Amino acid sequence: MSLMDKHQFIERNATLLLVGSLLVVSIGGIVEIAPLFYLENTIEKVEGMRPYTPLELAGRNIYIREGCYACHSQMIRPFRDEVERYGHYSLAAESMYDHPFQWGSKRTGPDLARVGDRYSNEWHVQHLADPRSVVPESVMPSYAFLKETKLKVTNATMELVANGRVGVPYTDDMLANAKADLEAQANPDADTSGLLERYPKAKVGNFDGDPSRLTEMDALVAYLQMLGTLVDFSTYDDATGYR
Ligand code: HEC
Repeated sequence: MSLMDKHQFIERNATLLLVGSLLVVSIGGIVEIAPLFYLENTIEKVEGMRPYTPLELAGRNIYIREGCYACHSQMIRPFRDEVERYGHYSLAAESMYDHPFQWGSKRTGPDLARVGDRYSNEWHVQHLADPRSVVPESVMPSYAFLKETKLKVTNATMELVANGRVGVPYTDDMLANAKADLEAQANPDADTSGLLERYPKAKVGNFDGDPSRLTEMDALVAYLQMLGTLVDFSTYDDATGYR
């Protein structure tokens, strides 16, 4: 019996065909599903990643609310032109605390994955309020109202709790201090030692140029200024990970 004849035999026997199909589909299914159980292993461990501070998290929420992702991606691809323009390509671990992630698929403006530390706070405030005053050919909309909108601080703790539910490792200490940390980060006179212990490398000080009040501009700029700054790539090797 040739191979084709054997196949004919299977096709003419409904039960055998059904059992055969199920067998093939389940092998395919297992191959697709099994790796998901080991997802943890596929995310390379990197040093320096920490959950967002309450103020950064508030800024991130504004970023999502305003639809910044519609024009900006946050994923530097491992191509030479991207790496030369934006810096080291994004690692999966760099978005491990992003719920939802902001990789994006549309770049009307540049990628923002490593925009932190690239400009001053003043530049960001000026640019967000009136993009064309700093980049004359810009098509980015103005977000001047963020400077006039007081930041809502009442649900700072619940934001952390919500992220904790989906796996972000916020500690009890972080939850207990959420509101205080949120206010301290943008207050140049505050004692930020506790905040910096809980959230290493957090940028502190005044972000929107007016220390007398806490605005949505403070939160958004605090978020932009930390993007891509947590992992130290001077000790990271592309081929082997850490040296
Ligand atoms: C309609 C598309 C559009 C939207 C929406 C938009 N941007 Fe932009 N953005 C641009 C363009 C185009 C540029 C490049 C010109 C410029 O610098 O203004 C840019 C530049 C930037 C830059 C400077 C990046 C760099 O590396 O020079 C930042 C930061 C930025 N945008 C942040 C934001 C934030 C935050 C939001 C949401 C509040 C936002 N953008 C919404 C189009 C947009």
